[in-house]
Amino acid sequence: MDTLYTILLHSHSGLRWIVLAALVYAVLIHWLGWRRGHAYRSSDRILAISSVALIHVQLVLGVVLYVLAWGSKVDFGQMANSMIRFYTVEHSLMMILAVVLITWSNAKAKRISDASRRYKLISISWLIALLIILTAIPWPFRAALGAGWF
Ligand code: HEM
Repeated sequence: MDTLYTILLHSHSGLRWIVLAALVYAVLIHWLGWRRGHAYRSSDRILAISSVALIHVQLVLGVVLYVLAWGSKVDFGQMANSMIRFYTVEHSLMMILAVVLITWSNAKAKRISDASRRYKLISISWLIALLIILTAIPWPFRAALGAGWF
């Protein structure tokens, strides 16, 4: 159980970098597509689908970690403890919100035939989701949260 947990935790921690890189690149490419006004390219569709898939893997890993270790610690009497509050409520809810925003906008964008509006929807909503994710990551400089870089 401990070894499994450690493997899942490092996978979740390391995958953050790939998810962040994919989102930054996708926001940039969609923003450029919007500004340049060209047709929606199949490479952009593949980029969007791959980013959604990566973030869903991250979501599944997070939910498994939550169920294995943190779910049982949800106790509203413990909310003054910043580490317990962060992992049981703040991190999970903000990340779920970001994943819902990314999934919803991607599904909506697929039904938009106008390329410029499609690029615009993804670039703006994914930028908002990216900012939510950056805020909700337990960066090592937030010492009270005890997380690492990988
Ligand atoms: C989708 C974007 C997400 C990113 C980028 C992300 C990133 C991270 C990072 C960097 C850590 C610290 C790992 C370490 O200690 O080194 C972490 C921990 C954790 N995450 Fe996420 N996470 C995401 C989504 C979620 C979701 C949706 C959940 C739960 C529903 C979740 C549950 C957890 C839990 C429970 C921990 C603490 C593990 C522990 O220290 O015991 N994560 N996450």
